[in-house]
Amino acid sequence: MKKLFYLMLSFLFLQTVAKSQNNLYIPPVLNGPVYNLTMANGNYQFNAGINSATKGFNGNVLGPTLIMQSGQQVHMNVHNLLGEETTVHWHGFHVEPENDGGPHTIIDPNTTWTPSFTVLEKAGTYWYHPHAHTLTAKQVLQGLAGMIIVRDAEEAALNLPRTYGVDDFPLIIQTKAIDATGEIQFTGSEPNPDTNLMVNVTKYARLNVPQQMVRFRILNASNQRVFNLGLSNNGVFYQIATDGGLKNTRGTIQRLQLAPGERAEIVVPFSNYGLGATVLLKSYANELPAGTWGAAAAWINHTNSTPSYSPNYMNGTAFTVLKFTVVAATANAVTTVPPATLGTDIPIPAAQATVTRNKYLFSGGGLTVATGSGVKISNTSSYINATNFDETIIDDVIPIDQTEIWVLHGAADQYHPFHIHDVQFYILDRKDSLGNIIPLTSNEIGRKDVVYVGPKQTVRFVTQFKDFWGDVPYMYHCHITVHEDMGMMKQFVVNKYFYVNKNYVGSIENGSVLFPFKTLGKAVIFATDGTTIYFRSGGIHEEITSTPILIQKKITLKVSNGPVIIQ
Ligand code: C2O
Ligand code: CU
Ligand code: CU
Repeated sequence: MKKLFYLMLSFLFLQTVAKSQNNLYIPPVLNGPVYNLTMANGNYQFNAGINSATKGFNGNVLGPTLIMQSGQQVHMNVHNLLGEETTVHWHGFHVEPENDGGPHTIIDPNTTWTPSFTVLEKAGTYWYHPHAHTLTAKQVLQGLAGMIIVRDAEEAALNLPRTYGVDDFPLIIQTKAIDATGEIQFTGSEPNPDTNLMVNVTKYARLNVPQQMVRFRILNASNQRVFNLGLSNNGVFYQIATDGGLKNTRGTIQRLQLAPGERAEIVVPFSNYGLGATVLLKSYANELPAGTWGAAAAWINHTNSTPSYSPNYMNGTAFTVLKFTVVAATANAVTTVPPATLGTDIPIPAAQATVTRNKYLFSGGGLTVATGSGVKISNTSSYINATNFDETIIDDVIPIDQTEIWVLHGAADQYHPFHIHDVQFYILDRKDSLGNIIPLTSNEIGRKDVVYVGPKQTVRFVTQFKDFWGDVPYMYHCHITVHEDMGMMKQFVVNKYFYVNKNYVGSIENGSVLFPFKTLGKAVIFATDGTTIYFRSGGIHEEITSTPILIQKKITLKVSNGPVIIQ
């Protein structure tokens, strides 16, 4: 009896030791300008001795880290050997809509997609992942995700660690549920269980870090879980980049909250630590607010049962993400704190915005939510502005070069990380349900493409839709991938066409042709690509109430100042 007890004790002890013993896997790098990516099915042991069926880019799971230079023309050859359809999206990139890899750009099985584009990004950390509608959550959980590192001259001039795998490490944090047979669990809706934590697909990961400044590029590539990262000794670290590249001003922080889809770059001053010291990177989920997936309560006042949520050891507790052991410094180590002034990005001024769009985020559970167009009830799905994703509907038509303020209205019961393609944005402010300002954190000041919108909060951002336009839609959606797959996604096109609303009065810059005019119709027929059509304000324009004109030529329409008179 006693023997058995000690046997069990030592077994438990071994288990504990074993749990901190896996060296962090570092994905290989791929340099351009030509990138060959092959997506295929594979096998991986997340849990020792148990094979899981996976999917990966150029390997069993995850993908190589793509290193790109800002300004470089890159060519991607993406082969799909998955046996099912998919797409590949360059998350955070500003590219032509046909190169964006959204749900409309399907890569059929056994075919190759070959987008080519100029890297317009600033130095920073981006990522790539599948985006086929209803397949995104599953394919990402099965392993399809990779990091992109963009380098540029501005970042290269700063005294920062940047040697990949030496003093600059990718950390792709994910949770998955894996059953005893190794199968990755997928419910297709919320809640999707996620009891296995991994960094770069390594469970119980450890990493030797040199006794110097060490940079981490952190990506939350989980389906749903939010992390609240900090060091076990509560030491400070420095935030140098947000989603879209360098912060203008270094952040000195003790916590970094990352919702799905978000990235951040931090520098940890291991130069201050003794040789052999160990320190843990933890997620202080005990500090997360209710309504956050990862907090003690994932929903506020939720009446539905949450069967797979509560038994998860990560919910509402502080848990270890990665264990660091400090080893000898490398040659030419960076040992000084990152510069207080980093980037020189100029935020888009809010005053430049000519249009404000409201987006209401909410989720299932029979909640009643007031929207701009009245009260809507959402029963089963996750909606934006009270309707589910419909790939045949263009939800927003945005004239090129337009600067806009988007107002995101949080759900009643839970947070949603809102993501938009094509652009980086600047968060203007965040307010609670009473209209009180909630100060922005270090991670919310800078270029962003994902923003966490808490229950009943209102978050405003400003952005501009530049350079690219066309008929292929860009997406905006909740980056909880199961929500996105359930329909919490919408699409917009950026348009170069000049649209005139029939009720328009004033000087024309933007609008939409719901009922085009006869004069316009005629002009369009005679126009060739590149023509500018002047639409005479103050003149008499005959309205056509039949089918709207679909302008397929690349024409610019201009209206001279003054009201348009309709007859
Ligand atoms: Cu990371 Cu639309 O996605
Ligand atoms: Cu994206
Ligand atoms: Cu959501």
